[in-house]
Amino acid sequence: MSEQSKIQSMMQEKRLFEPPTEGQDKAWVKSIDEYEALYKQSMDDPDGFWLNRTKDLLTWFKDPTKGSTSDLNKPEVKWFEDGTLNVAYNCLDRHLTDGRRNKAAIIWQGEPDEDVKVYTYQMLHDEVNKFASVLKKKGVKRGDRVALYLPMVPELSIAMLACARIGAMHSIVFAGFSAMSLQNRIQDCEAKVLVTADAVLRAGRTIPLKPNADEALKDCPTVSSCVVVNRAGSDAPMQSGRDTWWNDEMAADDLGFVEPEKMNAEDNLFILYTSGSTGKPKGVVHTTGGYLTYVASTMQYVFDMQDNDVYWCTADIGWVTGHSYIVYGPLANGGTSLMFEGVPSYPAPDRFWQIVDKFKVNIFYTAPTVIRALMREGVEWTQKHDMSSLRVLGSVGEPINPEAWMWYHEHIGASKLPIVDTWWQTETGGIMMSPMPYATTLKPGSCTRPLPGIDAAIVDSEGVEVPANEGGNLVIRKPWPGMLRGVYRNPDRYKSTYFERFPGMYESGDGARRDEDGYFWVMGRLDDVINVSGHRMGTAEIESALVSHPAVAEAAVVGMPHDIKGESIYAYVTLSAGIEESDELIVELRTHVRKEIGPIASPEAIQFAEGLPKTRSGKIMRRVLRKIAAGVFDEFGDTSTLADPAVIDVLIDGYHEIM
Ligand code: WT7
Repeated sequence: MSEQSKIQSMMQEKRLFEPPTEGQDKAWVKSIDEYEALYKQSMDDPDGFWLNRTKDLLTWFKDPTKGSTSDLNKPEVKWFEDGTLNVAYNCLDRHLTDGRRNKAAIIWQGEPDEDVKVYTYQMLHDEVNKFASVLKKKGVKRGDRVALYLPMVPELSIAMLACARIGAMHSIVFAGFSAMSLQNRIQDCEAKVLVTADAVLRAGRTIPLKPNADEALKDCPTVSSCVVVNRAGSDAPMQSGRDTWWNDEMAADDLGFVEPEKMNAEDNLFILYTSGSTGKPKGVVHTTGGYLTYVASTMQYVFDMQDNDVYWCTADIGWVTGHSYIVYGPLANGGTSLMFEGVPSYPAPDRFWQIVDKFKVNIFYTAPTVIRALMREGVEWTQKHDMSSLRVLGSVGEPINPEAWMWYHEHIGASKLPIVDTWWQTETGGIMMSPMPYATTLKPGSCTRPLPGIDAAIVDSEGVEVPANEGGNLVIRKPWPGMLRGVYRNPDRYKSTYFERFPGMYESGDGARRDEDGYFWVMGRLDDVINVSGHRMGTAEIESALVSHPAVAEAAVVGMPHDIKGESIYAYVTLSAGIEESDELIVELRTHVRKEIGPIASPEAIQFAEGLPKTRSGKIMRRVLRKIAAGVFDEFGDTSTLADPAVIDVLIDGYHEIM
């Protein structure tokens, strides 16, 4: 389906789904009236609302007396600034004495079905303390950075919480990223320690990871130690003096309880790199008190997590979804979080449903791309398992098209479960707009309404709010506790990316409209960022990877509609003089991008183009390239400023050759 017809089908979507009545009385938010009241309270008195919320949800060493002291014009954002707390204490220690000591904190399901580990709160506490001691022995101090480059193994959660315990910032790099991507991120944050693994188990294969880490560390002088988790029992090369095995470190007899650092609310918690429309990925910084309050709060509102629930978010911890809704949100609430190492399709397309059945999962959170891929495999896979334990379904990463929504609702949700379509971003820390499962009437394809505390609006290019049903820029007009506090060591980029265009507001970069009922319909990015399977990719980054290949003179990358991934990567490449076009070169360029960035950035389509549509001032007219990549050969808009309009027909011919 083309982008245009997808948007059309969303605009015509009129079906309504009422929240379930069964279970409503036990829900954290029981009715739409309750939501309205919370929302009103949060807008009338944000400080009062959030101070109450944080005292209800978290345990502070010193209670904050102040809510927010922020000015989005500057920008300057602070929450709870006179309070002190520790994230690991909130996620672990306090649950040892609140009746949850022997409750499962993390249920880990490895890729092989028999690989299961269950960590009670006591066990997880002990492991985290041990690893915190290891980090301290390695000289990691409060404020230092630790890079984590790991597959979905329990050690990843343990290492995160160990960093939080000693006040070090973690910077997690998704294990699917290349050595070069890892190197750039380590260099940017000057990490002292890297934690990685010998290999990744994926779809039945063992993919070495340590060689990537070694490659990256060739030019990372700040890293003095590398701790290696032995996941696959493979013979990873170890550099003496620098590399040690996780298990050896954890077996030392001088490890023990580590006093949690008393962190100020505004002390840094972590950095997570994310792609933007220009330049290298930026290090989004989140801090301690506001972030934890926000993820704990949204965990309750959006997923209605209750004490006996088994909750499963299928994301990778390498993305923000995993940070906030596999580790920090669930554990702050004393919940049970399932962590899965594998993929949805291996050994068969019922793997997710088999796991739901095996652990009697109650709350399930995944991405539209997964739903669309599994939809294609046929409903029979869903019917092989008992999924009656489920009560709330969630979606994240991109707009969920009504077809996928209906399939999810009918086949996974037995035509009765609510779907919470959660809109948010790496920068927002937690979910911003979403239904509340027992309160909100659903419209398939809409993330419905902003959560309490979130002042979302749609504005035109001047920053003026547009009337209902008109599209525009999605902005947030009030600070919220979970928002990013900076771009690591780059205040200018922080300001110019998020706060300059619309003074006094946070600019999301997304386009959306709000309908006559106040429901939001997010359409996707307005900037040069594409969303591949719910993962954000900057076109500029892929272009610079392509151009770094000697055969390439120029490259322009755009998103193209894709049935399963939502969008995929389409690259127009102009070759250097004297280089011949060939299929081998296409393969080579793909390999090159995988090496520079990672497999997720590898272009689906590469079209050789002798010329690109440029204006007389030399700017590439991307909307023309986007149309052609989508197979749309008219509606180019005003092309009168093009230096050579004939380029368009040549590009259309080229499209037909490769598609
Ligand atoms: C971008 C953020 C935060 C979770 C994972 C992605 C798109 C995310 C939705 C949704 C429509 C969505 C937006 C946003 N997005 N969720 N429910 N409906 N669009 O995090 O990599 O920071 O990407 O993902 O375009 O800006 P991210």
